[in-house]
Amino acid sequence: MGFEQKKDLLGLRELSREDIELILNIALPMKDVIKRDIKKVPTLRGKALATVFYEPSTRTRTSFEIAGKYLSADTVNLTVSTSSVLKGESLRDTIKTIEVMGFDLLVMRHSMSGAPHYVARNTDMRIINAGDGANEHPTQALLDIFSIREKKGSLEDLKIAIVGDILHSRVARSNIYGLSKFGCEIRVVGPSTLMPPEIEKLGVKRYYSLDEALDGVDVINVLRIQRERQQIGLFPSLDEYANLYMISPEHLLRARDDVLVLHPGPLNRGIEISSQIADSNVAVINEQITNGVAVRMALLFLMMGGARDEIAN
Ligand code: CP
Repeated sequence: MGFEQKKDLLGLRELSREDIELILNIALPMKDVIKRDIKKVPTLRGKALATVFYEPSTRTRTSFEIAGKYLSADTVNLTVSTSSVLKGESLRDTIKTIEVMGFDLLVMRHSMSGAPHYVARNTDMRIINAGDGANEHPTQALLDIFSIREKKGSLEDLKIAIVGDILHSRVARSNIYGLSKFGCEIRVVGPSTLMPPEIEKLGVKRYYSLDEALDGVDVINVLRIQRERQQIGLFPSLDEYANLYMISPEHLLRARDDVLVLHPGPLNRGIEISSQIADSNVAVINEQITNGVAVRMALLFLMMGGARDEIAN
């Protein structure tokens, strides 16, 4: 089944390389739309999109909202902190309430792994997973892959290091599922307490030394330390973490001269990434955010039945 026939986007594990390439290729003309003076095409006129985020977000939620608006869809954001969720309304009843208002597609983020999968089974709306617990964040990985392909020209045979809190990272998992379909060598490195057991079963190489992990890499994807998901202290202190794993200029000496540094945001400056790197030319963090709008436009276009001739000019 091709991507356009799938009802939902829940993760990259279940997408084929061809599905991912289709989304990235549609994101190219979408990026052109964003650069125009008048950033509006009529292709999703009459369609309605809702976002419901049970966890905070700046990039993902805002970019879905503006992506829908650029494509002329009606977009509504349900703010959970001011909603009837606070009166005890269940997830199922909240989603049903949104569905019967006539929305076509729902973008949702939830702290529980599998929550969007549960919702997808219980609604006729199409569902996009905007991050579920430590499971997947497929649209982040798609924009990461788009950004790498845009800068490097191709994904084939690239060496990519994912650094930091692998255990809690849905970004890491979706990147691993996506990039492994393109023949990349994927390396992971971080504190042992933040490394899932048997991570190698996902087809990645585990490293115990940051310097060794960065040797000859084309891309470094730096993960955010997710203090909100740590029930117990999994490393002694943030200072110690920064001493061992913060990406700083000296680390780039190990990597290729044209290395790219990615970070999904929000940044913990001085903990997992130094400001010298975050604000330098090797970092593509701001481009990732712009590309996130283009990739989310492509997804909405494909999943809400956009017409291709309406994005051409
Ligand atoms: N990268 C990311 O998901 O950022 P937000 O939490 O701001 O959406």
